[in-house]
Amino acid sequence: MFMVRTARLVTRSNRISGSYTNFIRAISVAKDTNSLLVNWDQLKGVWSRFHYQWLRDNCACPKCCYPDTGQRILRMQEDARPNSVITDNERVEISWKDGHNSQYKHSWLLENSYYHNNIANIKPSDTTTQRSDIVLWDAGYFKSRQPPSVEYEEYMNSDEGLLKMLRQFRRYGLCFIHNTPASEEATFDVVRRVGPLRRTYYGDVWSMVAGNMSVGDIAYWSGLVDLHTDNIFLTEAPGLLAFHCIECEFTGGESLFIDGFCVADHIHQTQPDHFQLLSKVSLPFQMQFKDALYQTRKRFFQPNHEGQIIETNYNYIDRQPIDNRAMSDMQAVLDCDPDKAISTFYKAMDYLHSLLYGSQFAYEIKLLPGACLLFDNHRLLHGRKPLTGHRKLCGSSVNREEWESKLKTLERQAQNNSG
Ligand SMILES: [Fe+2]
Ligand SMILES: [Zn+2]
Repeated sequence: MFMVRTARLVTRSNRISGSYTNFIRAISVAKDTNSLLVNWDQLKGVWSRFHYQWLRDNCACPKCCYPDTGQRILRMQEDARPNSVITDNERVEISWKDGHNSQYKHSWLLENSYYHNNIANIKPSDTTTQRSDIVLWDAGYFKSRQPPSVEYEEYMNSDEGLLKMLRQFRRYGLCFIHNTPASEEATFDVVRRVGPLRRTYYGDVWSMVAGNMSVGDIAYWSGLVDLHTDNIFLTEAPGLLAFHCIECEFTGGESLFIDGFCVADHIHQTQPDHFQLLSKVSLPFQMQFKDALYQTRKRFFQPNHEGQIIETNYNYIDRQPIDNRAMSDMQAVLDCDPDKAISTFYKAMDYLHSLLYGSQFAYEIKLLPGACLLFDNHRLLHGRKPLTGHRKLCGSSVNREEWESKLKTLERQAQNNSG
């Protein structure tokens, strides 16, 4: 009898996000000396190789894996030899020489396959900088449609409301919580609803009156706040940020938001050579306070292993001089002398600036009491026009893994409820 491996399937999946995994059937399995070859139905001519050591290492039976969490119990031995391999329409079953028995769902094998004859058929293509489940937007996008939003009551009081927010947040990188009471506490509660608050030098919650410079950061003044991502000088910048303007007697002060992924995509399409530099050269960033000094390195556009951009990092004021490590990154990309490297890199930055400070990408909106904005600090840049008068803005943040974890957990819960 085959055993059901639910816990493991939930905890170790999603390496391939394609739709194949729902209906795939292995049509044949062949043994060779150290691996299994699996031919996939619906993917003509595509096979995957699974080494016996890998298969034994990833057995998810309750002796090898703790069922509730999918955490490993088995410490892998070097030798893994099968006695017999059989398969039906759903699973491959292996009896090992040491007497142990393992089962692997075909769909699980495909999701977790690591070696194929034709990877292009089942992995996302690296000709795109973006995942298929997000929507890129520019300056005009929200002119013809309402920006994503959820009602405060629904958001605070139901899992559906929270999931609705998180799905839009992932898709667009922002979501308004409408009718949030114009108070600090209500705003902080909105953020706590997603996960534990992130504490930075600025605290875990903050309230700022424009023009009060006691913190010593020019983001607090009433002049123009240049476009940036927050806390770029930290190794892992906060992920989800909340801005809620709770006192508002001012003129000017419109906020600007830019979808950094959309800009990255545009550069990738229009100036691929510039894109190479902006996504491969890491630059030093720094912030110093009287009692703290933060330093790190970032790329303007950080790709994952599949070449998709997962982070926008931009902060003109906290950028440090181009150094020898940045120079070697540039030379590795361009294969040229330092003179050419510097001039080409400044050209690429100029191009980026022309897009950021032009009118094509910046979504302009005045933040007002009652509309708490949650936005993705790893994706969006934000800034503000100069203002005169009184403006109190409060906010807080959670780490990226917190909002992603909450989203995945609620998605799984919703799936279980519907299935
Ligand atoms: Fe900021
Ligand atoms: Zn096992």
